[in-house]
Parts: sequence; C-alpha cells; structure tokens
Amino acid sequence: MKSKELQKNTEENDIDYDQQQEETFHSIDLLKEHGINASDISKLRDAGFNSIESVTYSTKKTLVSIKGLSEIKVEKIIDACSKICQMGFTPSNIYLEKRKNLVYLTTGSSELDKLLDGGIESDSITELFGEFRTGKTQICHRLCVTCQFPREKGGSAGKAFYIDTEGTFRPEKLKPIAERFGLDPDEVISNVLYARTYNSDHQNKLLMQACALMTESKFSLLIVGSATNLYRTDYSGRGELNARHLSLAKFLRNLQKIADEHQIAVVITNQVIASVDGSSFDGGNDKKPIGGHIMAHAAQTRLSLRKGLNDNRIYKINYNIILLNTSF
Ligand SMILES: Nc1ncnc2c1ncn2[C@@H]1O[C@H](COP(=O)(O)OP(=O)(O)O)[C@@H](O)[C@H]1O
Ligand SMILES: [Mg+2]
Repeated sequence: MKSKELQKNTEENDIDYDQQQEETFHSIDLLKEHGINASDISKLRDAGFNSIESVTYSTKKTLVSIKGLSEIKVEKIIDACSKICQMGFTPSNIYLEKRKNLVYLTTGSSELDKLLDGGIESDSITELFGEFRTGKTQICHRLCVTCQFPREKGGSAGKAFYIDTEGTFRPEKLKPIAERFGLDPDEVISNVLYARTYNSDHQNKLLMQACALMTESKFSLLIVGSATNLYRTDYSGRGELNARHLSLAKFLRNLQKIADEHQIAVVITNQVIASVDGSSFDGGNDKKPIGGHIMAHAAQTRLSLRKGLNDNRIYKINYNIILLNTSF
C-alpha cells in the first residue's frame, strides 16, 4: 500500500516535471518559426545554447565565436530571440509578480529555513562557506532530497545536479534522508545526477551539459562542491592570479545564467583560508572565504558555517540582498 502511494506520488511528480518545464524557458526550436534555419539552430545547440534565454543572455561576441555563425546570422538570431523573449524594461509590479513565483527549498531544518527567510531561494546563487567539517556537504546532500519534494512541502518537484570537485558526494547518504521524509530512496537517488570533475575547464563544461539535460526534464537544484578549489590548484602563484580570477568569474557568471534561465536554485560550497594580510572578515574573524571579491559578488546569499560546542553547528547569514539589514 505504502509503495503504491509512493509510486503515485512519483507519477504525480513526473507530470509536474513536464508541466513546469514548459513554463520555465523557451525552446531554441522556436527560432524555426522566426526564419532561422535548422542547421544554425543545431550549431547553437551544439555550443550549449538550448533555450532562447541562453542566447539572449549572451553577448554578440560570444555568439559570433560559434563555428559557422557569421555576424549577419547572429544579428538575425538576436532579432528573432528578442521577438520571443522580451529583455527590455519591465514595470516593477510585474517583476514583483515574478518574485512571488520564487521557490524556497527547505534545508530540512526549520531554524535554518527561518534564518534564510524561507529556505534556499531559486533563481539565485547561495554560497555555504566554512572550515572543514562544518557541515557544508551535509546540507548539500539534504537539499538533493528536499528539492524533490512537491512545492507545498518545501521543494520544487525537480531533480538535482551535483558537481563534485572534492570527491565527497556519497549517494548512500541520501537513503536515510529520503526514508526520513517518507520518500522512495531508489527513486530519490536516481533523480540526482552526479559528475566528478578534476579540472576547472571540465567543471565549466559540465554546466553546458547540465543545460542540455534541463531541456529534457525538470531540475530544481544545482550544487557545486566546492566551487573554488580546482581554480586554486589549476592556477597557482601570483603570475596566474589574473587568469584564475577571469576563469572563476566566467564560471560564476555561467552559474548565474543557469539560475536565471532555468529558475533553479544554485548552491555552491566554499572553504575558508587564514587571512594572511591581517585584515579581518566578518567583524574580526581571521578566516575568510576563498575567492575574494569575485566570490563575494557572485552569490546573492552567503551563509557562514561554524562548529559550536557539543557537535552543534552555527549558521550565520553573512550576506543576503534581502536580509542584509537583519541581524542574527
Ligand atoms: N548539523 C550538524 N550536526 C551534527 N553533525 C553534523 C552536522 N552537519 C554535519 N555534521 C557531521 O559533521 C561531519 C562533517 O560534515 P561535512 O558536511 O562533511 O562538512 P564539510 O563539508 O563542511 O567539510 C560529518 O560527519 C557530518 O555527519
Ligand atoms: Mg565538504
């Protein structure tokens, strides 16, 4: 009986995935109806552009760099996209309506949800930073399950991507979490798409693959744990600092594009390092998150994690564009 109910729930969720997929973005195939030929559409798709929004959010320079697309063709494509997806000024009340559709994924902890003003926000990037063993990976595992809940239960009825740069993802950890919430563990685990990556170029390429997969089913969460560590090892020394910053900034910009285009929650983890220049971060803390200003500007919400006494974990909103003036 219970498994029948589970199956029914899963079937309902499947239907949700398809219906919501329709609402989230415009397929690149719509360009056909606006005079763009099939071969140019497939060139865009091969370069990772699967939606009208993904083209619209890109610069002309990026589009011209796609093999086989001339400047004239790109102009025609941009013109067609602007007819399908408006990018101009919008009255604030319409923007307000759009913000009402944001989803807040529950972290599974009511206190933490309260601190986050509802949970992990969709359409934006949330950074979890803290020392080793402060619980960053644990929260990510939990979110992989809760993002699959239906909306009324604090989820978004979607699948999750997990980009793992540290080798700390453990699918077996999802099982007890799923069971605790009365979900079918096998179903939950199969809805988490996992990729291990060892270099920062590959880390960036995985985003393109994620975009392609998002045209096939509904995803509600993308996790990158950790977002910064490969950039630190791939680019070492002062001589490569500039290249490292540029590359990390590009990756973070792509993440933001994905959050905007596909209306999913992006969660990145980050470690902290001792502040060698003696500057204090966060009112006297001698440890600061990696990535400096580039990371600081990327996330809409920065959540600091610390270990407390007796295995407790202390969470603190370090920065949130909405909660900025609230103290905890
Ligand atoms: N809120 C918590 N309370 C108690 N233990 C926790 C909590 N969060 C995580 N842990 C435990 O702490 C250890 C380290 O957690 P982990 O998520 O791997 O940390 P990080 O990713 O920050 O290094 C794990 O054994 C995990 O089970
Ligand atoms: Mg970890």
